[in-house]
Amino acid sequence: MESEGGAARSGSSPPWGDTVLVEFDEGIAWVTLNRPDKRNAMNPRLNEEMVATLDALEGDDRCRVVVLTGAGEAWSAGMDLQEYFRDVDAAGDPALQDRVRRTAAEWQWRRLSTYPKPTVAMVNGWCFGGAFTPLVACDLAVAAEDARFGLSEINWGIPPGGVVSRALAAVVPQRDALYHIMTGEAFDGRAAARMRLVNEAVPAERLHDRTRELALRLAGMNPVVLRAAKTGYKVAAEMPWDRAEDYLYAKLEQSQFLDPEQGRSRGLEQFLDAKSYRPGLGHYARG
Ligand code: COA
Repeated sequence: MESEGGAARSGSSPPWGDTVLVEFDEGIAWVTLNRPDKRNAMNPRLNEEMVATLDALEGDDRCRVVVLTGAGEAWSAGMDLQEYFRDVDAAGDPALQDRVRRTAAEWQWRRLSTYPKPTVAMVNGWCFGGAFTPLVACDLAVAAEDARFGLSEINWGIPPGGVVSRALAAVVPQRDALYHIMTGEAFDGRAAARMRLVNEAVPAERLHDRTRELALRLAGMNPVVLRAAKTGYKVAAEMPWDRAEDYLYAKLEQSQFLDPEQGRSRGLEQFLDAKSYRPGLGHYARG
């Protein structure tokens, strides 16, 4: 694994390195929220660093897939109650509050949910409150069976803020979402998988290997088609059917136009003419 920044190659230092760490490994960028002493609570500094990190990784060829994880025993304990809430309240400056909220939203869902490269959350430990937003915004998620999740807002006197409840509504059935929003009761990785908040939960000792296996699979796929497929799904989910049909055909044609591998004609040729593969059993031979 190498941990130098994309920008480092051209002489400037990478945008991460303080509250965010990045390591490269065979096409995977392992992005680690790095405030373990504060259980990776997201303060304004970390939010700024994550915006810049996602920006930089977009154009970095060493990154074909992003894995988002946390240092130490937490994935993230949510928004930083001191620096994101109390300190900003104390400043009494509405413009500052707007700015810190905007920066948080910018990476936690705006960029992440339609990121051009595949994203996988690897939930290694505590995951609370505001952390549900980037969790849901990642395309896929794998958790340790003993990771602990909770919508703890109600326990300390607020309803979930930002887009936490909106994010939950996108992936979790209403009964589960309201139960945990209203009781604040924590749950483990197995329960998170049952309610589809994550794709799967695995024993903690297998978490890294299983996530790496999944990330490598994504890193080996046609990036143009993968981007069109995932963005198409997420955007079309919000559309009426007739508009979705038009949009998804446009997405398909866009991906054909942009795809240097010409996957569609290659796939058709290999199945119909060469009879060298079956789409139901794997993807066409790249190269
Ligand atoms: N904001 C700010 N600081 C936080 C934090 C948060 N969301 N979560 C943890 N921390 C800090 C603690 O204040 C403590 O700081 P200190 O060492 O300077 O006192 C440090 O991180 C370790 O936390 P601690 O509570 O001692 O760790 P723990 O392992 O016993 O418990 C949690 C971990 C996650 C269960 C617990 O810290 C917690 O409940 N955090 C708040 C979770 C939450 O409600 N998040 C929603 C915010 S929207």
